[in-house]
Amino acid sequence: MVVHTPERKKIVELIDVSKTFGSNDLKNTVLNNVNLTIYEGDFLMVLGKSGSGKTTLMNIIGFLDRISSGSYSFLGEDVSKLNENKKSEIRNHHFGFIFQQFFLINSLNVMQNVELPLIYASKTNKRERKEAAEKYLDLVGIPEKLTSKTKELSGGQQQRVAIARALVNEPILIMADEPTGALDSETGIGVMELLKELNSHGKTIVMVTHDEDLLKYATRVIRMQDGSFMEEGALV
Ligand SMILES: Nc1ncnc2c1ncn2[C@@H]1O[C@H](COP(=O)(O)OP(=O)(O)OP(=O)(O)O)[C@@H](O)[C@H]1O
Ligand SMILES: [Mg+2]
Repeated sequence: MVVHTPERKKIVELIDVSKTFGSNDLKNTVLNNVNLTIYEGDFLMVLGKSGSGKTTLMNIIGFLDRISSGSYSFLGEDVSKLNENKKSEIRNHHFGFIFQQFFLINSLNVMQNVELPLIYASKTNKRERKEAAEKYLDLVGIPEKLTSKTKELSGGQQQRVAIARALVNEPILIMADEPTGALDSETGIGVMELLKELNSHGKTIVMVTHDEDLLKYATRVIRMQDGSFMEEGALV
């Protein structure tokens, strides 16, 4: 079993959380009284079949959707008490998002894509932004692509740009929804090795996957079924 010592910082704490879409006859309970604490340093993988609520859970954790009942604390703050401005501010400063389809902006070059979260977080010093973009493109292994157009990159390179973009604000939590879903398995392994490396340096990661082969990269695994979670034993 993973022993969570009290000193480990709680980043996310969901208590008795339910999420329901629709109403009355069309009510669809996607999360049913779930409890989940994400601690600093976790590499948490979320598995479950299509429609089991994985993205819904990610959206809730990332302040993109609201819970129907229960409580959500982020770094000890009750999320339901935060207004939209404060939520955006926290999202911009503390979360890094990685998606299956990368979501790079094709009209911007690689560096400009990586700089975007800094612009959203009102970090206006151009030189500092460039230095940060360079640092993280170097970290993800594609420093030479700084001025490339995103369309000129392979899928694996595009995902590396997206990872650099997710890291540039030095977020406390990386949220990755099927980050290897659009990549061939070899390229996907490269991306997983990179995420593992980031986690071994202390970065907290929550990742959704369908791929059982990727569980070995995680420190915790939860499976979603019928609105509930099952946590597996220790993996490392
Ligand atoms: N905005 C919404 N309005 C109504 N129903 C929704 C909404 N978002 C999700 N759902 C429903 O919630 C359920 C879970 O969807 P979700 O996208 O979280 O699944 P998932 O596990 O991410 O699936 P996949 O593996 O296909 O990505 C589905 O039945 C879906 O139809
Ligand atoms: Mg999904």
